[in-house]
Amino acid sequence: MTKVGIDQINFYTSNLDIDMVDLAHARNEDPNKYLIGIGQNKQAVIPNTQDAVTLAANAADPLIDDDNRKRIDMVIFGTESGIDNSKSAAMYLQHLLNLKPETRAFEIKQACYGATAGLKMACDYVTLHPSKRVLVIGSDIARYGLHTPGEVTQGGGAIAMVISSDPKVIAFDQNSAFYSKDIMDFWRPLYRSEALVDGHYSNDVYINFFKHTWHQYQKMTGLKINDFKAFTFHLPYTKMGLKGLRAILPKASSIKQQSLLNEFEASRKYNRYVGNLYTGSLYLSLLSLIDHADDLEANDRIGLFSYGSGAQGEFYSGILQPQFKNANRASKIQNNLKHRKQISISQYEKIFNSNQKIKAADIKLDSSDDNAKFILKGIHDQKRVYGTK
Ligand code: HMG
Repeated sequence: MTKVGIDQINFYTSNLDIDMVDLAHARNEDPNKYLIGIGQNKQAVIPNTQDAVTLAANAADPLIDDDNRKRIDMVIFGTESGIDNSKSAAMYLQHLLNLKPETRAFEIKQACYGATAGLKMACDYVTLHPSKRVLVIGSDIARYGLHTPGEVTQGGGAIAMVISSDPKVIAFDQNSAFYSKDIMDFWRPLYRSEALVDGHYSNDVYINFFKHTWHQYQKMTGLKINDFKAFTFHLPYTKMGLKGLRAILPKASSIKQQSLLNEFEASRKYNRYVGNLYTGSLYLSLLSLIDHADDLEANDRIGLFSYGSGAQGEFYSGILQPQFKNANRASKIQNNLKHRKQISISQYEKIFNSNQKIKAADIKLDSSDDNAKFILKGIHDQKRVYGTK
């Protein structure tokens, strides 16, 4: 059976952030609520010159070498921060990355689950056509609104993954346990740019879906907690994944419990400094695990729990491949995170509110503070104008 999975993966977020201690002070909260109770240290602030398309282009661009340009013939763009109700973000991306026109490119939506839906379709496609590759994107900007309980769980950025046969990073098993139910835990009606959420209910549903799919997965495969080196989670905020892990830990020995908790710490490092990036969050956590855990080895089994409000859950797993580490990629991501500019809460509020101005009217955006390669330059004739710096 051909191995299929993630051959290459990259992450991009903007060059601005705020500190959660500053936000706690501005909102009259105890900083430990944000740092420990929620598990977030910093939050990416996405300027108006970045949107789901440019974030994706900036994440994917370093992956597009000649070989990928030839072999990628499908682009699946997972997002819930769409920029158009009809035309898909994948079209803009295909153009910005200069991919070949003989490509099937489309957008896919199911809240934070979109990238997993894309990845699963991509794996099936590559299993049938082992010489082909698929570019899968998870790109979003998480917005709840100023002074809301969800504000501390905002963030944004994009994950880009190339799915291939004989992958370098991780090969996925075909088995997958999924579960869906029509519920209202988090949603964003077409007329709103900020999400609506029943926060505590959403936490409960997340845990229930995780327990359900994990149970189903064990029945389907016969695998047990001890067969896993680590579990990675969709991380809307990093404490959420910890709650998920704690729900299944009692089944493990105390040594195994400690080991899984250590791996979890490695898997939430990037997410702690970025916040929620919706579709990309689970895959940022996988990347964080790979880049920070020092005891992972090829052939270790990693569990992945994907959750998208509304709601869809899926548990599946994969086996790390011999070349899963990439020191060059890790140091670039860590450098980008370290060299972001920390802005004040009032500067962040100004950026947040100014986003409302990007509507139908012509506008030219000032990108002097944005160091990204791909930027949104403005709106002209009701069309988004993208470009490179
Ligand atoms: P809240 O009501 O402000 O916070 O909302 P809280 O009172 O529940 O406190 C949070 C935690 O901090 C608690 O811990 C407190 O005990 C602790 P927990 O009981 O949960 O373990 N705490 C402290 N800890 C240490 N020192 C202190 C302190 N004070 C309190 N001094 C909530 C929190 C997450 C509900 C809110 O931020 C929210 O609504 N966020 C958005 C919704 C969300 O992220 N839901 C997650 C599940 S749904 C999901 O994952 C899908 C999603 O990504 C969207 C999609 O699919 O597209 C959201």
